Amino acid sequence: MEKSLWRQHILPFTLLLGLLAAATLAGDYLLHRLNLVWIGRYLGIPGTLLIILSLVYSLRKRKYITAGSPKTLLRLHEIGTWLGSLMVLIHAGIHFNAILPWLATIAMGVNVISGMVGKLLLERSRRHVQGQRQHFELRGLSQRELEQAVFWDAVTLDAMAQWRKVHIPIFIVFAVLALGHIVSILLFWGWI
Ligand code: HEM
Repeated sequence: MEKSLWRQHILPFTLLLGLLAAATLAGDYLLHRLNLVWIGRYLGIPGTLLIILSLVYSLRKRKYITAGSPKTLLRLHEIGTWLGSLMVLIHAGIHFNAILPWLATIAMGVNVISGMVGKLLLERSRRHVQGQRQHFELRGLSQRELEQAVFWDAVTLDAMAQWRKVHIPIFIVFAVLALGHIVSILLFWGWI
């Protein structure tokens, strides 16, 4: 049990987070080394777009759209927010010009870590729900219906519901701060 907790949950979580930190440091170092710091200044834009695009999962989940496999979209959410955050972190670099962008960066960091905790919880509930498969199979559901039923069950389990009460407010704080940062840059550029 102890071993599986470590191997199935803590280790992947640590790797995902450690890799993000290492890739941020390496990216920042390389851009400085190659005199390409200007790329970092614009990396915030594709990073933000990637994070916004990855929120399609939420639209699918809340049935604003009906196309696409929820499982795949969640996968894309995880990859898209991870990559997008990496870009935004490199973009933030170690430059300190104003408070607001740093507050936004911290909120994003908390958001990313909380997302990874959610992934960990989801994997746990998925394993739990798999135990109920047999029951569904007995009811004669097709393979596709079965996959969907198990997926939605895993997503709605209690631990996930509790986690969402934290993750979504954090997301809103992050979104507001990021928007504030973006608006102030557009003002600075004289676009609005
Ligand atoms: C900038 C970073 C992130 C933002 C803004 C973000 C935003 C969100 C939002 C708004 C939801 C709620 C979806 C809904 O209930 O409609 C969500 C759910 C979720 N996110 Fe993230 N997220 C981020 C990073 C991550 C990361 C890095 C991971 C994992 C590697 C992740 C994994 C998840 C999981 C597993 C769910 C739960 C799925 C569900 O409840 O249906 N997120 N995220």
